[in-house]
Amino acid sequence: MKGLILSGGHGVRLRPITYSQQKQLIPVANKPILFYAIEDVIEAGIKDIGIIVGPNKDRVVEAVNNAYFDAEISFIEQEAPLGIAHAVKISEDFIGDKPFVVYLGDNIIKGGIIRHVKRFEKGDMDASILLTHYENPGLFGCAELNEDGSIKRLIEKPKKPPSDLVLVGIYMFRPPIFEAVKNIKPSWRDELEITDAIQYLIDNNLKVNSEIVTGWWKDTGKPEDIIEANQLVLDELEPYNRGVLEDKVIIKGRVSIGENTVIKSGSVIKGPVIIGKSCKIGPNTYIGPYTSIGDNCEVINGEIESSIIMDGTKINCNKKIVDSLIGKEVKISDRDQLPKGHRLVIGDSSQVEL
Ligand code: DAU
Repeated sequence: MKGLILSGGHGVRLRPITYSQQKQLIPVANKPILFYAIEDVIEAGIKDIGIIVGPNKDRVVEAVNNAYFDAEISFIEQEAPLGIAHAVKISEDFIGDKPFVVYLGDNIIKGGIIRHVKRFEKGDMDASILLTHYENPGLFGCAELNEDGSIKRLIEKPKKPPSDLVLVGIYMFRPPIFEAVKNIKPSWRDELEITDAIQYLIDNNLKVNSEIVTGWWKDTGKPEDIIEANQLVLDELEPYNRGVLEDKVIIKGRVSIGENTVIKSGSVIKGPVIIGKSCKIGPNTYIGPYTSIGDNCEVINGEIESSIIMDGTKINCNKKIVDSLIGKEVKISDRDQLPKGHRLVIGDSSQVEL
């Protein structure tokens, strides 16, 4: 089988972070979201992977090329985010006549996809989709099933969802999907929708089945989704310490500390927490559960909980920071000058709660 991973798109809901980086490169537990997709596809035994890249392709190509993956990875350029089905359409030459899995590069799923891929490979389905129960199904592709569990219809972001079953962004196809993507029309959002392409297969009596996913799944479209994905991944963190702990440091629970990181005296770290390489934490700093701190960061004083702090950021303030997504090379400090008050230099589309 081959793999097709989507890493194009704009990431409008993740601005301002996505002004400077592609959304699939935002780190969850210190690893780009996209890498979880690549690893899941490789774990399923797929060694030939195409990654769809959009106008901001350079960072994605660089990040993937700088990492090591046990697979042959090609990049397929999509001139604009014209839809998931459009991404499939432009990949026909790459896929050829092989069955393949499409994995949206902003999705994370517990336990990977190996079971689903193996089942599809052995079977004779033309397409197989993954569904999960979701409390707000109108936000995603939604499925209506017949009484026997077969798929009746699929609708993209319905105003009146017919069920609480949504499509996970992982799909398995055989070549008939190429006929489908060529025969559908753009939707109200001017995209070729993969839901419409799968509906085309169903309407033309091709074999499409669905499986219900029971473990957690996250589409990381919004900041709060990324923070939640970070929590879910950190829940399975393997602890290690490659750094230096000064005296009077308290470490509780599962904590991973990277090389050349120093935790200075009087600091408390309560896991699950991951801290990257060459960071300085403390003195007298509290890092609380579900926090990921990237490489080359400094956190002095104050408290941080349930947050993602990206590479090179420096925080030195006597405040508590919670549920936050903080980009690279950010500086946060106390103001020690009059007049008192918060002094902000913030990019477009930022969100601040003081
Ligand atoms: O996450 C699951 C949902 O993904 C499904 O339930 C929906 O049926 C499906 O349409 C999709 O919905 P989204 O609106 O969340 O898709 P989004 O536009 O966020 O794109 C998904 C990923 O694919 C994202 O990583 C960007 C990438 N992409 C998207 C488009 C439209 C591309 O690479 N090229 C594109 O043209």
